[in-house]
Amino acid sequence: MIKVAFFDTKEYDKASFESHEKATDMEFKFLETKLTEDTAELARGCDAVCVFVNDTVNSAVIDKLYSCGVKIIALRCAGYNNVDVEHAFGKIHVVHVPAYSPYAVAEHAAALLLTSVRRIHKAYNRTRDFNFSINGLTGFDLHGKTAGIVGTGKIGRIFIDICRGFGMNVIAYDAYPAKDSGIEYVSKDELFARSDIISLHCPLTPDTRHMINADAIEKMKKGVVILNTSRGALIDAEALLEGIKARKVGAACLDVYEEEADIFFEDRSGHILNDELLSRLISMPNVIVTSHQAFLTAEALNNIAETTIANIRSCFENDGICDNELCYRCGNIERCRKERKERCF
Ligand code: NAI
Repeated sequence: MIKVAFFDTKEYDKASFESHEKATDMEFKFLETKLTEDTAELARGCDAVCVFVNDTVNSAVIDKLYSCGVKIIALRCAGYNNVDVEHAFGKIHVVHVPAYSPYAVAEHAAALLLTSVRRIHKAYNRTRDFNFSINGLTGFDLHGKTAGIVGTGKIGRIFIDICRGFGMNVIAYDAYPAKDSGIEYVSKDELFARSDIISLHCPLTPDTRHMINADAIEKMKKGVVILNTSRGALIDAEALLEGIKARKVGAACLDVYEEEADIFFEDRSGHILNDELLSRLISMPNVIVTSHQAFLTAEALNNIAETTIANIRSCFENDGICDNELCYRCGNIERCRKERKERCF
């Protein structure tokens, strides 16, 4: 029996993993607490831990897990910016779910965009109050506008197709442009200057942290709509707020926020929010915040459970090779393992 400790477990995680008929060789220990240095000890006696985006998996936590006998860190998400993969090398194997439903995230970005530009969030509240006035709800057509996509991987490309469906012109920036993709790649600065809508779909790395900062906003069109369904720290939220106050940024739709770890995913209604910046952003009429829910579809949850279970199992079976291992051997984290066809260590 493979024992797996789940951290930061929510109802929907429990439901999707428990209902998975293929997990009969595993025992799940569902913990509501997040993984931190203080809670790592709870994994003692388990073979694997299963973690999510806001669990802390830094060097100290990895050392604790290692001393508790944990052999696998299984991320039930794609992004791994919260894991010190370099430190885990030689100690604990790290696996992730590279794609569970890129459609879920791209469609959520589209939902946010339409809600924002057609003021649906405002209309919904008005009609519930029998207020049928449409004053102040003027939107704009997406047709003919330019969408600038940062990151043309799985999610970015689906979002590009959606934008094209609306008759938008699409330009993109990617540090590794895809060849023969039919995508018009431009420099980051050109994207900032030409886009009516900017949507972020790249990972959070030291290079991309605060890529949307005061400098970048300065280069953008007046009235630009900024969408972030990727990772909060891609945007310097202080600079975004200033851009909104200066009427430079026309709207912002945020599914992620740099300081979300202690706020998102919990019911904090009835409490005073200690994050002034987030409170200010939410108070703006042209800002929509969702609580990191872009991934949350039935299809995605099912795929996450299926792939995570398969990832953990393959680490313990035969040669221990798992296609979704994040290998740090050469620093080329995602590609290295696939090219070498062997375990990271
Ligand atoms: P992907 O790996 O398929 O695509 C990422 C793209 O970003 C690649 O084309 C890559 O070349 C590009 N990129 C890498 N470094 C870059 C840089 N410095 N500048 C510009 N582009 C760069 O990833 P996928 O599946 O499309 O996911 C994108 C991001 O979406 C993930 O990193 C994750 O942070 C976020 N995400 C958010 C979710 C949510 O619920 N809000 C759920 C799933 C993913």
